[in-house]
Amino acid sequence: MNIAIIGTGYVGLVSGTCFAELGNDVICVDNNKEKIASLNKGVVPIYEPGLEELIRKNRRKNRLRFTSCIKEAVEKTKIIFIAVGTPPKLDGGADLRYIEQVSRDVARYMNNYKVVVEKSTVPVETNKWVKYIMRLNNHKIDFDVASNPEFLKEGSAISDFMNPDRVVLGVESERAKKLLLKLYKPLKAPIVVTNIQSAEIIKHASNSFLATKISFINSVANICEKVGADIEKVAEGMGLDKRIGSSFLNAGVGYGGSCFPKDVQAFVRIAERLGCRIDILKEVEKINKQQRKLIFSKIEKALWIINGKNIGVLGIAFKPNTDDIRSAPAIDIIKMLQGEGAKIRAYDPKAMEHAKKILPNVDFCKNSYDAARGADALVIMTEWDSFKKIDFAKMKKIMRHPIIIDARNMLDPKKMKKMGFNYTSVGRPGHEIL
Ligand code: UDX
Ligand code: UDX
Repeated sequence: MNIAIIGTGYVGLVSGTCFAELGNDVICVDNNKEKIASLNKGVVPIYEPGLEELIRKNRRKNRLRFTSCIKEAVEKTKIIFIAVGTPPKLDGGADLRYIEQVSRDVARYMNNYKVVVEKSTVPVETNKWVKYIMRLNNHKIDFDVASNPEFLKEGSAISDFMNPDRVVLGVESERAKKLLLKLYKPLKAPIVVTNIQSAEIIKHASNSFLATKISFINSVANICEKVGADIEKVAEGMGLDKRIGSSFLNAGVGYGGSCFPKDVQAFVRIAERLGCRIDILKEVEKINKQQRKLIFSKIEKALWIINGKNIGVLGIAFKPNTDDIRSAPAIDIIKMLQGEGAKIRAYDPKAMEHAKKILPNVDFCKNSYDAARGADALVIMTEWDSFKKIDFAKMKKIMRHPIIIDARNMLDPKKMKKMGFNYTSVGRPGHEIL
């Protein structure tokens, strides 16, 4: 099938490449000409495991093309996915200006029937506006709007696309339904077909629910900490109940990334605009912010005075296996520490290029040991696999004081204590500093 994907960010690029891998002819469009030029040279602007190889393979087979010409992409394709950014506005609502811009452009260049699919996360009823704007700009050609939310986790986005738990299709015509069912048939995944409003809500509700799980377990972790209970055992004991499930019950510094923080806020705002309340999500957000303060206070407790101290930070990305630093907890923690006068040496396997642009006063190091050199304390902010393989005996010799604050519960507290570290993490017993 002929497909256009408008917006080659994380979601658009992964989706376009995977659709090509399934045998479709895909044109990826972006208004950022530099991005398109680099993609056309084979340079992939983001780090996502397996993506570069898959792009190379599908370009070679002529199933995947990159262009900044939206006209050409619209004219040559039948199904058009919109995957441009929907960033938060100051009030937390989703900024839909790019969706509007693209809807207008698509309408102008439509030469025959098209299905225009919302892939970006948008508030419920956005489809009505997309339809309205398209009709205003083209009242001659027939089209359908549909919603097909993405559930791609950065770091495992390709396997999430190829082996999804479910595909959600929000449609309102048989024609659009048939086309989209055909497109997704090769995945052999459960498909939920519903109306467009329901599909839009499924996305916001899913991400908000996952964020709720994280804030819930973080709140329980704080109780564990007070009484000597172990949050990992508590999560295991809860998660084995199939009704609860074990995933997204890892306590730590809280969630970051380009989706959860903005989607939780946007869901609250759209509910309010509709005259409803979903206050539980306000609490989820509040708890998530408190977790960052909790980690900061643990560092403060370990060092007493932060001013003038050297602090090594391991991990900047909002989670492992990505170079994405959007709403990364590490950024907030580093800024809080710098605000108190600490000197920061940091290392991340993939995210440093992005981090350099927004953290000018950090010493970026060539590896983990380098970040720990002369450190009064080491803070683990992202649980990269390579950090789990660090020789901590060596680390201890390099550091000025053997103090570790593990904001991701990555290491074994007993082992660290045995090695002579002053070690603390989140919601686990028997190893509190002081
Ligand atoms: C985006 C949305 O922000 C998110 O809500 C949704 O769930 C998936 O799509 P992401 O792919 O991470 O997420 O966004 P981003 O990395 O910002 O990429 C958006 C791309 O669209 C950028 O490359 C940008 O240049 C491009 N774009 C933006 C256009 O091509 N045209 C526009 O008018 C605006
Ligand atoms: C999310 C959704 O999971 C995905 O379906 C899609 O809608 C895009 O948004 P992503 O943001 O890439 O994916 O990563 P995810 O794995 O969901 O993690 C989000 C944040 O939650 C990360 O900062 C992660 O460290 C944190 N997290 C996750 C926890 O703190 N504890 C957990 O148990 C799980």
